[in-house]
Parts: sequence; C-alpha cells; structure tokens
Amino acid sequence: MTPEDQRRLDELYARFSELRPRSIGYPCNQTFDYAPLFRFLEFSSNNLGDPFAGSNYRLNTHQFEREAVEQFARYAQAPEGDWWGYVTNGGTEGNMYGLYVARELHPNGMVYFSEDTHYSVAKILRLQHTRNIMIKSQPNGQLDYDDLRETLRIHRDVPPIIFANIGSTMTGAVDDLAKIREILEDLAIGEHYIHADCALSGMILPFVEKPQPWNFAHGADSISISGHKFLGCPLPCGIALAKKHNVDRIARSVEYVGALDTTISGSRSAITPLMMWYRLRELGDHGIRQLVQRCLGLAVYAVEKLRSAGIEAWRHDENSVTVVFPRPPESLREKWVIAPKKKIGHLITLPPMNEAVIDEFVSDFTAALKA
Ligand SMILES: Cc1ncc(COP(=O)(O)O)c(C=O)c1O
Repeated sequence: MTPEDQRRLDELYARFSELRPRSIGYPCNQTFDYAPLFRFLEFSSNNLGDPFAGSNYRLNTHQFEREAVEQFARYAQAPEGDWWGYVTNGGTEGNMYGLYVARELHPNGMVYFSEDTHYSVAKILRLQHTRNIMIKSQPNGQLDYDDLRETLRIHRDVPPIIFANIGSTMTGAVDDLAKIREILEDLAIGEHYIHADCALSGMILPFVEKPQPWNFAHGADSISISGHKFLGCPLPCGIALAKKHNVDRIARSVEYVGALDTTISGSRSAITPLMMWYRLRELGDHGIRQLVQRCLGLAVYAVEKLRSAGIEAWRHDENSVTVVFPRPPESLREKWVIAPKKKIGHLITLPPMNEAVIDEFVSDFTAALKA
C-alpha cells in the first residue's frame, strides 16, 4: 500500500460518509452496527448448497441461515411444514428463484408483470426464455386489473404465472393478491402460480395493523424479500421463500460438493445469513415494529412538509414509506441522491433519515424550483 493508495481509501470513506444521509431515493436502511461479526471475515466461509441439507464445506453458517429464513417464513405466513428458502444475493435473485420454480412447474406458462415491475424482471425472463406479457399499470403504480383480466382471458389455455409487486420500486404500490385471485377464479383458471416481489414491503407489512394481502396465506406461491433494504446490511442480500413440495420437484443432488443443488448460485455468502440472523435477533419483533412505526411516521411528516411547500407529494397508502413527488429540477441531484423516473421522483423514509434531513431536502427542493 502506498501513501497514495491510503489517501484514496480515506477519500472514499469520507465520500461514503457524506453521501449516506443524502441517499434518500434508494430503499436502504443505512443505520446498523455489525461490528460484533467482523471477526468472521478472517475465514473463507461459504454457504454453498441447500441450507437445510448440509454440505461438505464445513466453514458455513447454515444453522444461522436456517434460523433466519425460518423467521422470514413466519413473517410471510408460509404453510407449516411446506416451505423452503435460503439467503440470496438480493431481491433480484429471489425473484429469479420464484420465476424459475414457476417455469419448471409450468414449462409453457406465461408470465404477467406490470409496467411498474422492477427492471431486472424483464432481464430474468429473457435469461429464462419464459414467455411473458407486460400488463398496464394504473397511475398510482398498481396493476391495471381490467387489462390483466382481458389479457388472461385471451390466453386462458396457458397457465399464468403472475408476478405481483408488493411495493413497487417507484411508488410503493402493492398489487392486490385478493383481486388477482378473484380474476383467476372468475375466469376458471385452476392451474396458476403467483410470485410476490416483496423487496421492501415484505419487512413492513408483517408489522402494520392493516396489511394488504401479500403473502402465502393470501395466495403467493413464492416470495422474495431484500435483506439490505428495510433491515439494512452493508452487503446486498435477500430471502427467497417457496413452497417445499414445489422446490422438491426441481432439486438435484451434486456429489462433488455433497449438497443439494436447490439454490441459484453455487458458492454463496456465509456472512450475509449471519448478518440477517444477527439483525433479527438484535431488533426482535418488537424492535422491527418500532422501526416500521418510526419510518411510517416520517413518511407522513415528509408528505405534509412537501405539501406545505406547495409540492404535490403523495403515498400509495398508509403502509408505504415511499413518498412520491413530481420530478425535481436536475440541479437538486447535485446534492441529493434521488432516483427519478419519467415524471416522478421519490424519497424513502428509512434511517438515517429524520425530520431535519426532510426539512433540508424540502428547503433545497423549493429553492431549486424558484431558481
Ligand atoms: C420492487 C423491487 N424489486 C426488486 C428489486 C431488486 O432488488 P435487489 O436490488 O435487492 O436485487 C428492487 C430494488 O430496488 C425493487 O425495488
């Protein structure tokens, strides 16, 4: 390491520290302390294989992974004795997993997803060569149910694989699983599959008073939740959950690693499952509920503050931490990390956001509009 190398690292650290409170457009909780786990970075650990089936590579954290996944399964009301899951590399891999299981069960199936579905899903479908149709969205970001019904009606002979957004990226919109199932029933489509992309909201809805239908109990066959979003984690990760009897149909045993090849990646991080386990233990259900309440309270505050400054802000519903507003002037992006798309922008009220950060953002936004 030269002094120049050291200087560059110090500069990077200073830049990250400065950007953290201003990264308001991305759904990542950035307030956490995993220091007690740093000592595990001494090892070349690896969680390859199925966490429930063991592997020859013994420097793994499968036991912790199982316990973490079990907790997510409880939050998602997974069917007792008929669920399976693992810690993924992020929400994208969890969605890929759900769509993979769906495609293996229904090789001729047609995937339906909305205009507001995360961009990575179109890529997954291309990779998997799965037939698919994009359904229109309503202005609030939810699926257009009339378009879904009409499109399903035309393709009634093909098993539908519905990709539901449980908290869309831009507006936090939650597609209504009850309505989707009603449409499937009306059209007498018996054979179908529903995957729920619960990237951010999968850790919010279990802890609110009036959650929308979103999980296994409401008809989902598989679920993806991001770990680095609501809970927060310095390494991207997520949880894939699916019904065990479906996973069993696609599992393959691999002799070289002595593991069941049920996951998408071979080598997998042993650190992220440990971090998820640690975070869940540290917060407990009570701590997560408090965090959810705090974030939702801040979202209410942000909407009010923006509106009182004359900026037309809104939330999809009372369970959303995504505050949507008209696309701000480009100049605002010099200081603030926001993620505008077409005519809208948003901020997401996760830590370290607080009232003071919102006040500063609204003041800068107002000044930029006047400039
Ligand atoms: C709704 C939704 N689905 C999927 C993803 C992809 O998740 P990840 O970035 O964890 O791979 C995102 C990311 O923002 C998202 O908002």
